[in-house]
Amino acid sequence: MIGTPLSASATTALLLGSGELGKEVVIELQRLGVETVAVDRYADAPAMQVAHRSHVIDMQDADALRAVLRAERPDIVVPEIEAIATAVLAELEAAQEWPLRVAPAARATVLTMNREGIRRLAAEELGLPTSPYAFVDTLEELREAADRLGWPVVVKPVMSSSGKGQSLVRTAADVDAAWEFAQTGGRGSQSSRCIVEGFVAFDTEITLLTVRHTGGTTFLDPVFHRQVDGDYAESWQEAPEERSLSAAQLEEAQHIAKQVTDALGGYGLFGVELFVTATGVVFSEVSPRPHDTGLVTLVGQDVSQFALHARAVLGLPVAATRWPGAAASWPVKVEGRGVPAFDGLEEAYAVDPSIQIRLFGKPRVEGERRVAVTLARGTTTAEARERARAAAEALQVRLDPES
Ligand SMILES: Nc1ncnc2c1ncn2[C@@H]1O[C@H](COP(=O)(O)OP(=O)(O)O)[C@@H](O)[C@H]1O
Ligand SMILES: [Mg+2]
Repeated sequence: MIGTPLSASATTALLLGSGELGKEVVIELQRLGVETVAVDRYADAPAMQVAHRSHVIDMQDADALRAVLRAERPDIVVPEIEAIATAVLAELEAAQEWPLRVAPAARATVLTMNREGIRRLAAEELGLPTSPYAFVDTLEELREAADRLGWPVVVKPVMSSSGKGQSLVRTAADVDAAWEFAQTGGRGSQSSRCIVEGFVAFDTEITLLTVRHTGGTTFLDPVFHRQVDGDYAESWQEAPEERSLSAAQLEEAQHIAKQVTDALGGYGLFGVELFVTATGVVFSEVSPRPHDTGLVTLVGQDVSQFALHARAVLGLPVAATRWPGAAASWPVKVEGRGVPAFDGLEEAYAVDPSIQIRLFGKPRVEGERRVAVTLARGTTTAEARERARAAAEALQVRLDPES
């Protein structure tokens, strides 16, 4: 049953994290008549602009998080980011002071909050293929681990995302700089802990969007992506006849995704990141929620990853069907400080009738930030990618001083 928003029967969802991905989830929840509450650490975040109400708190502060949840008593909590005091979610989901569900499950948010929980689960408990790795707390341990794993290595703070604090280290001479970068680039936690991974020389990398729902598990067609400095630079879904993965590779990818998502549990959409190599498919990491590279599903699927997540977390079954061609997304980034303003929209739309644009509405930018995405369809992957790129190129972003 779904009630009426802002009434006694309302079904309420509270988002933890209110960025561009959360904004799309809120819109989809609202289409199903769900009352939505958006939470983030800053005011006027994208999802807050479309939710019924919002709260500004430090989501890593357990007391602040508990207080907001107790005040709102949502039916469902939908985490959009990793940096949350997830122990509070586990505590309240277990206590059931009111009927609360965490999407997809509190356990999934606890295990994926940091790189160590999910890596140990995947490699040591489930025995899935991963890069060789070690966890280190000091520069000395990092040096030893890199020597043991073999060069090059990738160093990442255990608490970080979107490539922050991450570097590829080619030789022993670069270790000091990588350690320093990881210490300053991470998510501001007290911990110096890093994961060191052997470099996987993959042919392609994919996000396998996987939905656990009341009707079973559904896989979307793979989302291919290209990363620059650990951050996504473009993503695409192929036309059915292009299929660059073999049937065996796809089956291996789905098998890994099924094992990981079953171990995490609950109902919702997961972004399972995989490396496809000449010798097999390797598990990298997983998000128990919509994935940034999955923005392409806004044009690549009949029903986007955001709508599928909304349906699954509400306890409804889903079906995933593709638009029968290729689709591509290209994030638009800006660097500097100020309030974004966009120009060149007419030129961007003129690239092709299939072009769609999302301006995220981020209230301000500091440093390098993603502020928009262009989306395109094509007969072939090459055509869709080129259209999305050209539309992004046409967009101009100005940063105005804050008043
Ligand atoms: N061990 C590795 N070998 C090769 N490339 C890697 C490795 N780890 C990360 N990468 C590259 O860096 C990107 C970001 O790393 P990831 O672990 O997904 O961090 P984040 O949580 O910031 O997304 C990956 O998508 C991949 O392109
Ligand atoms: Mg990733």
